[in-house]
Amino acid sequence: VSHKPLAGKKVVVTAGGTIERIDPVRFITNDSSGKMGFAVARAAQQLGADVVIIAGNTQASPPPGIAITHVESAIDMFEAVSALWEDTDILVKAAAVADYRPKERAAQKMKKSGDTMTLELVKNIDILETLGHKKSSQFLIGFAAETDNLEKYAMDKLRRKNCDLLIGNDVTAMGAGFGSDTNVVHIYDTNGLALSLPVLSKEEVGLRILECAVDRIAGSSE
Ligand code: PMT
Repeated sequence: VSHKPLAGKKVVVTAGGTIERIDPVRFITNDSSGKMGFAVARAAQQLGADVVIIAGNTQASPPPGIAITHVESAIDMFEAVSALWEDTDILVKAAAVADYRPKERAAQKMKKSGDTMTLELVKNIDILETLGHKKSSQFLIGFAAETDNLEKYAMDKLRRKNCDLLIGNDVTAMGAGFGSDTNVVHIYDTNGLALSLPVLSKEEVGLRILECAVDRIAGSSE
């Protein structure tokens, strides 16, 4: 990419799944590999941005030459994002954050006892929703991975989380969602569906998402 429309902009990208610990050797997580977040980070770097990744549990190799902070839980991710928020121009939340965490985290490895056991979960803080109270110059991009009612859930999340763009993955589509090198996304803005993309590499999806952001940021400052 020869032009650098994001030069001078600070872009923060979250990637991967959070880990919510049960005890020192066990945790709850999800299938996010980090590939989508890493691809957006690489695209932002190509477009000239100053990029920071906040990564939870990932399987993919992080892109070289980009600053990365590793975190474990949703609370850790919230703290890491919050610490950078004041100076962030664009936040891209590709991470799959656990909605719930174990109510108690055992200090020692839990021992086997009865035939059944119950794990009580409590709601995690919603990072995007909390950060939604943003300066008008800040641009917020959320993701939603859905199996049904993509448009409805995507628009609900966009409004509730005060996002400028919401990237809906239809995780039932071939080549979409968790773990794969490709994705199938629909990009929503505050007016509704803005763009539906075919199966593309996550790299290409990352670039297309940021191009949408660049268009809207340029439009709002004219
Ligand atoms: O990592 P890969 O294997 O490449 O897979 C990519 C992906 C499918 C994980 C990614 O493209 C994606 O869709 N990420 C969001 C997954 C999701 O379902 O998010 P959600 O619907 O739980 O949350 C919606 C948005 O709010 C997300 O931007 C999420 O980061 C954010 N969120 C969610 C919960 C929470 N407590 N705090 C948040 O900020």
